[in-house]
Amino acid sequence: MDIKAEIAVRTEQIETVIRAYLPKEEGLQKTVISAMNYSVLAGGKRLRPMLMQETYRMFGGRSKVVEPFMAAIEMIHTYSLVHDDLPAMDNDEYRRGKKTTHAQFGEAMGILAGDGLLNYAFETAGKAFDTEPGNARIGKAFQVLAKKSGIHGMLGGQCVDVEAEGRPVTEEMLQFIYRLKTGALLESSMQIGAILAGATGSEQRQVEQAAAELGLAFQIQDDILDVTSTTEILGKPTGSDEKNHKTTYVTLWGIEKAKEEVERLSRHSVELISTLVVKNEFLTSLMLELIQREK
Ligand code: IPE
Ligand code: IPE
Ligand code: MG
Ligand code: MG
Ligand code: MG
Repeated sequence: MDIKAEIAVRTEQIETVIRAYLPKEEGLQKTVISAMNYSVLAGGKRLRPMLMQETYRMFGGRSKVVEPFMAAIEMIHTYSLVHDDLPAMDNDEYRRGKKTTHAQFGEAMGILAGDGLLNYAFETAGKAFDTEPGNARIGKAFQVLAKKSGIHGMLGGQCVDVEAEGRPVTEEMLQFIYRLKTGALLESSMQIGAILAGATGSEQRQVEQAAAELGLAFQIQDDILDVTSTTEILGKPTGSDEKNHKTTYVTLWGIEKAKEEVERLSRHSVELISTLVVKNEFLTSLMLELIQREK
């Protein structure tokens, strides 16, 4: 099977896992739950749960304990997108080929749906404590999930990203923003997979570093696509960065150099994974495939 077909099969399996953990649309607060499910079910590549599951498998993980964490990371990622699209942030109207959550449900519900997803992510991950009581790895994974989403992770990056709009930004600062706003959730995904499968401390650090490089490459590619792609292919507006006066790797270096950097960082990330004793050929193929990604 070729890598694209293999990715499609696994995405479908992940879709089933995510659906199983979504809240029922009932009660007087039904609107916010519908808005949460709308944003998660709109689609998306499901890259973070996939990286988590494949890292878990690479270290020999076989149980279902990873599944609530897979759903949780996708909920946190989706919340980050819902809030990223709000009028006060990037002010975008399309996401995953559909109207953004605030455009569909109104701004108040957009804010609440994001908050709801963040909170429900922890309710979801917390279910692992019930299925495997006494498994000390779950608590560690929970800590990583929390930390990488917050002020020292994704949220911190979004803060600096927003404050940097329309201002001169150095390469170091841009790297800081990308490592946090995008890298942190990729690090979280792969680290949690490693932790739950029982990887050693040094293996976990190696995985974290590889994910950080991959995250940087992933965000640079996102910046490139914002300039070179179309709304139809991306499912979100192009030109969003220019509209918001963002400095990106593309504005700093131009498209060609940005593309080279995506390739260099991705290959280095794969090298870091390849130095581990454990192997997962699908995982490294997936990481390399992202260099070419068109959405
Ligand atoms: C978009 O993430 C936001 C970034 C961090 C660049 P994805 O490109 O993974 O978005 P989905 O999940 O496929 O919609
Ligand atoms: C997003 O960066 C990072 C997040 C944490 C959501 P962007 O603002 O470039 O992401 P897109 O292009 O809207 O998906
Ligand atoms: Mg943004
Ligand atoms: Mg955005
Ligand atoms: Mg973008």
